[in-house]
Amino acid sequence: MALAGCSWLLLSATFLSVGAEISITPEPAQPAEGDNVTLAVHGLLGELLAYNWYAGPTLSLTYLVASYIISTGDEIPGPAHTGREAVRPDGGLDIQGVLPRHSGTYILQTLNRQLQTEVGYGHLQVYEILAQPVVMANNTALVERRDTLHLMCSSPSPAEVRWFFNGEALPIAIRLGQSPDGRVLTRHGVRREEAGAYQCEVWNPVSVSRSEPINLTVYFGPERVAILQDSTTRTGCTIKLDFNTSLTLWCVSQSCPEPEYMWVFNGRALKNGRDHLNISSMTAAQEGTYTCIAKNPKTLLSGSASVVVKLSAAAVVMTIVPVPTKPMEGQDVTLTVQGYPKDLLVYAWYRGPASEPNRLLSQLPSGNWIAGPAHTGREAAFANCSLLVQKLNLTDAGRYTLKTITLQGKTETLDVELQVATLE
Ligand SMILES: *[C@@H]1O[C@H](CO)[C@@H](O)[C@H](O)[C@H]1NC(C)=O
Ligand SMILES: *[C@@H]1O[C@H](CO)[C@@H](O)[C@H](O)[C@H]1NC(C)=O
Ligand SMILES: *[C@@H]1O[C@H](CO)[C@@H](O)[C@H](O)[C@H]1NC(C)=O
Ligand SMILES: *[C@@H]1O[C@H](CO)[C@@H](O)[C@H](O)[C@H]1NC(C)=O
Ligand SMILES: *[C@@H]1O[C@H](CO)[C@@H](O)[C@H](O)[C@H]1NC(C)=O
Ligand SMILES: *[C@@H]1O[C@H](CO)[C@@H](O)[C@H](O)[C@H]1NC(C)=O
Ligand SMILES: *[C@@H]1O[C@H](CO)[C@@H](O)[C@H](O)[C@H]1NC(C)=O
Repeated sequence: MALAGCSWLLLSATFLSVGAEISITPEPAQPAEGDNVTLAVHGLLGELLAYNWYAGPTLSLTYLVASYIISTGDEIPGPAHTGREAVRPDGGLDIQGVLPRHSGTYILQTLNRQLQTEVGYGHLQVYEILAQPVVMANNTALVERRDTLHLMCSSPSPAEVRWFFNGEALPIAIRLGQSPDGRVLTRHGVRREEAGAYQCEVWNPVSVSRSEPINLTVYFGPERVAILQDSTTRTGCTIKLDFNTSLTLWCVSQSCPEPEYMWVFNGRALKNGRDHLNISSMTAAQEGTYTCIAKNPKTLLSGSASVVVKLSAAAVVMTIVPVPTKPMEGQDVTLTVQGYPKDLLVYAWYRGPASEPNRLLSQLPSGNWIAGPAHTGREAAFANCSLLVQKLNLTDAGRYTLKTITLQGKTETLDVELQVATLE
């Protein structure tokens, strides 16, 4: 009873060990293509007659690599022999210069003297020496927030993929857009921070290879368009400028690429395509609103900024200059006026002090002028305050007074002494 039980146990133990313990392990464990590999066998028991090696998932004759007779050492190649395999006396299988196509399931089938067969399974994975991958992009110049970044890591071999951005492992924020196999990088509404050099790297346990960088440009802006004044970085709505001084206005913005510039003065476009505008000599004629329009040729977006430039109040000094300076008898003279108030309502010219009997003429708000009591028929006036006196005679020499009244009711008077040279 005890003996019978014992022998049953022994039998079943033998059966289990033979069936379960044939193990097949490749050496080296992670072979590269070209290596000499041995599929080493462990756990063979009993006196064996022959080995059959199969390269395939099932015991099928078409997968038979070779049969080996242990007593004679004879090896008979099967249909699946590739010319590189050799069975070892210990049951192992040598494969010389292994190729990726040697990857797969291997089965060893043994035959013992009782003509019983046992099988063991193993798996061989041959890793390729990876060729350099290439990053493919259908567009390397993208518009921020509008375009989709789409990069593909192209490599003919199966391998793990990782990405590099400007030489560093890709930040997680961008990695989120990876396809499951890691080969495609997608980012909708690409951002400017994502412009740079992208590389992909393929790797397996035996090799690693990184692509050449591909440069991605992301166009954006213009943003924060502003007008800066000369050397100062002060921006303001109004710039006060002294008479006859110069000023450079700079248009700045955040934009890629550099925007195209256009300047507008009091609603009128100026012929200036530069990022700056020079006011070389400030006069009342340069007073007004300067607008810079920055347009990005790639994003087709534009932005603008404006400043108002004004003459400093203290600097407005009115002067009267006769042209020519010393006219001859019989000649015409123009009493030209510089620095007259910009917001002029009306003015009047007097022959002598500013009193009504002396009034030569007045310029009306309509732009017309009307003659005064002292008008001789030879005087005319212009919108710029100038007084023209034609065909001078000697009695025209002497004092002339200009009186200006602004829209705010501010009155100013200024006189000039006209000299008339005699003929002779
Ligand atoms: C593989 O074995 C052959 C023959 O022994 C030898 O010539 C060759 O150098 C070996 N190759 C490698 C990669 O070890
Ligand atoms: C780039 O290619 C991908 C896949 O072929 C496509 O889905 C995407 O629309 C393409 N993008 C552009 C801008 O052509
Ligand atoms: C990418 O940019 C880098 C640095 O600006 C430059 O050296 C490299 O030549 C560029 N590569 C290509 C393919 O344009
Ligand atoms: C303006 O300045 C220049 C140089 O400083 C000077 O030569 C010129 O006379 C000035 N003009 C007026 C109208 O003040
Ligand atoms: C404006 O002035 C600067 C410096 O004086 C000069 O370099 C630049 O060429 C000028 N620009 C224009 C448009 O005249
Ligand atoms: C004033 O206007 C008249 C007529 O348009 C012109 O002849 C004269 O040169 C102007 N004077 C000044 C100082 O602008
Ligand atoms: C000069 O002109 C005034 C006004 O037209 C006239 O009354 C006067 O006779 C003229 N004098 C001479 C010398 O022509």
